Amino acid sequence: MGQPPKEHSYDVVVIGAGVIGLSCAWRIAASGLSVAVIDRAGPGAGASGVAAGMLAPATEADFGGQGLLALNLASAARWPGFGADLSERSGREAGHVQSGALTVAVDRDDAEELARLHAFQLDLDLDARMLTRSECRELEPGLAPGIAGGVLTPEDGFVEPRALAAALAVAIDADGGELIIAMEPEIEVTGGRVTGVQTLAGPFKADNVVLAAGAWSAEVAGLPPEAIPPVRAVKGQILRLRASGAPPASRILRTPRCYIVPRAGGEVVIGATMEERGDSHVTAGGVRELLEAAWEVLPETDELKLAETAAGLRPATPDGLPLVGRSAIDGLILATGHHRNGILLAPSTADGVAALCNGQAMDTALAACDPARLVAAPRVEASP
Ligand code: GLY
Repeated sequence: MGQPPKEHSYDVVVIGAGVIGLSCAWRIAASGLSVAVIDRAGPGAGASGVAAGMLAPATEADFGGQGLLALNLASAARWPGFGADLSERSGREAGHVQSGALTVAVDRDDAEELARLHAFQLDLDLDARMLTRSECRELEPGLAPGIAGGVLTPEDGFVEPRALAAALAVAIDADGGELIIAMEPEIEVTGGRVTGVQTLAGPFKADNVVLAAGAWSAEVAGLPPEAIPPVRAVKGQILRLRASGAPPASRILRTPRCYIVPRAGGEVVIGATMEERGDSHVTAGGVRELLEAAWEVLPETDELKLAETAAGLRPATPDGLPLVGRSAIDGLILATGHHRNGILLAPSTADGVAALCNGQAMDTALAACDPARLVAAPRVEASP
């Protein structure tokens, strides 16, 4: 994070240094445009730094409709290339592991739900294999002995969002972009067109402003009413446990009550509550709920060190799909509302936003994210 440069004038200013804002800024910088990301706290300081980092469209197929699933699958397909480019540009790893995921039925009620999920996954042509209890325990010996079975989705995996945010910050710098700590951003609009962002650290002029402020996107000052994105906060509490050696599972485990993401270094992430609240307090009830949900499927979690508790705010939209595209205000691009899927959707969102900043069309896979379905449509075709 540096001081604002003397010029204070960019092709693009991105508001928000979560994984979505950072990814957009990196792809914009890599395309040759000048870009600054402004954030009140630093890279990944909000929901991105709390996230478990699942890239699990098949496992999570039941969260949202087929429109969201198509988006998730399209972005999952971009992840290997995005991750490889990022590691090449930054010299850092984002911890991408295609571990596969096992959705486990702990009891008979879960088993009925699991059978429905599996039928749904097969209908959608996803690679999802029903396994018996003993097949599950062969794959994951740490599973509770009484489980009723599971569904293996071998193509799913995870990244490490904190490492990802750090790598993105380095890549932005390597490609000539800037990261700037600046409080109280206010979008400046003159004659229906964005002209930049005013902050306590000074003004930042720009031809395009990308609003990527996650759960705070609707609260950024200066937004004309017709451009305010209908984004609300959905709180998620999450735990980080630590094993002294290898974690007690080798792939993502999921039940209807929690997910467990085991990392090679011994970290085990347990998430997450879904609460229609905008505070980020960790509660005793949230921690208890998650610990019980993890223990019933993977009893060894009881023995691990409780290393961290945290809460993040997901940016949710009324229809569950993100808002990616031009707004009613010329030069204002929205990249927000990714709810449970910000890490997964970062590559396709970033490539789409970079295309817009260069006066090109976004990939058609992003058509469902057009903000015009929920906010006023652009009045004029913007120039790059
Ligand atoms: N991506 C899972 C969650 O938001 O909890």
